[in-house]
Amino acid sequence: NEGALWGGRFAGGPSDALAALSKSTQFDWRLAPYDIAGSRAHARVLHAKNLLSDAELSGMIDALDRLEQDVRTGAYQPAVSDEDVHGALEKGLIERAGPDLGGKLRAGRSRNDQIATLGRMYLRDHASILAEGVLGVIDALVSQSERHPYAPMPGRTHLQHAQPILLSHQLLAHAWALSRDLERLRDWDSRAAVSPYGSGALAGSSLGLDPNAVARELGFDSATHNSIDGTAGRDVYAEFSWISAMISVDLSRVSEEVILWATKEFSFVKLHDSFSTGSSIMPQKKNPDIAELARGKAGRLIGDLTGLLSTLKALPLAYNRDLQEDKEPIFDAIDQLETLLPAVSGMIDTLEFNTDRLAELAPQGFALATDVAEWLVRQGVPFRVAHEIAGDAVRVCEEKDCELWDLTDEDFAAISEHLVPAVREVLTVEGSLNSRASQGGTAPSAVAAQLQALKDALAAD
Ligand code: ARG
Repeated sequence: NEGALWGGRFAGGPSDALAALSKSTQFDWRLAPYDIAGSRAHARVLHAKNLLSDAELSGMIDALDRLEQDVRTGAYQPAVSDEDVHGALEKGLIERAGPDLGGKLRAGRSRNDQIATLGRMYLRDHASILAEGVLGVIDALVSQSERHPYAPMPGRTHLQHAQPILLSHQLLAHAWALSRDLERLRDWDSRAAVSPYGSGALAGSSLGLDPNAVARELGFDSATHNSIDGTAGRDVYAEFSWISAMISVDLSRVSEEVILWATKEFSFVKLHDSFSTGSSIMPQKKNPDIAELARGKAGRLIGDLTGLLSTLKALPLAYNRDLQEDKEPIFDAIDQLETLLPAVSGMIDTLEFNTDRLAELAPQGFALATDVAEWLVRQGVPFRVAHEIAGDAVRVCEEKDCELWDLTDEDFAAISEHLVPAVREVLTVEGSLNSRASQGGTAPSAVAAQLQALKDALAAD
């Protein structure tokens, strides 16, 4: 069992079947730089307790630096026989520092506290990459909103025409959701910034090593207060996985709209050539593959989260080997989002909106009926009655196959004495939009204010 981290109490090496099952280097090798950083910090606390001499510490740091360099260039890679990143790197360290010095580093630490710490370090680094990517999508939505400050479109509920809104209002709705994902990533970090290093296998170390010194060197705010929790807790991973899944769901929702809007029937947007795909058989096709992959990947990320939570459910404390299964779901979520986010922001940024069509459709489907009802309320009519009257007007329109503004003064009068010709002042898209000027509303002034509020919130981060 050459180079293994255990073996003393075993008469023979592991079976091939066990080794094949046990192996994790194919996915945990990406943690190697973090493992080496942890080793450097660990060497320093061993030195602080006189468990390494000055010369041994500098020899150890030098060997770790060289190992890090070789890992970076690919000159050092895990062997087929290596079980995990920790074992492979200890072997690499011993090759460089010699067995006497290299063999000293493992004192007072366990793969259990190491892996729990490395995972958090990896997630914290990638949380900032994801935040950049999410910000890219928000920027694309903001920039489209700024390019279309006054473009009306049909607002929908139940996918049916509901009320006219501004295109920028709709786009910014997606931006706000994504801005909360950014907030979540930031808030998550306060829980992730706690280092389990020093927890040992589960009970801490008898060597008097300082977990807070290691934590500081590795960029954490503090060390965990309970070594069992430190080695067995994975809620910080699960929360990260949930945030990733939420980001993917938010991307999927905006993507679903792009998919609908790009259909012939909607014809609201044209996708840019560089962010759409063709068909191998149908020459005319231009497909929204990015948006569809975003929609598809949301399912995958929900699966990653579900898999991780299922692994954790009913797992007794402290470390169990089941926990090795924690890594692939979170790595997958990160890998998927890191390729998806730039594609989605590019797709959104290059959408070409057919604003004439949006404006033409905005009032159709009796989308101004609420305006009629609210106008009646302003004339002193109780809303229940106003709702009835506006509903009657819609029914008359359906009978006559026309829109609300096509009704004559006589038609209005026949529906209700309250429907005097002045009602026409709200039977325009502009009047409808302008009337919804309170905070959060769709009036151009209110949308300009929310755009500013969003930018201020993003700038404050
Ligand atoms: N490779 C393991 C993991 O990913 C860490 C090693 C702990 N193994 C052990 N037998 N205690 O979780």
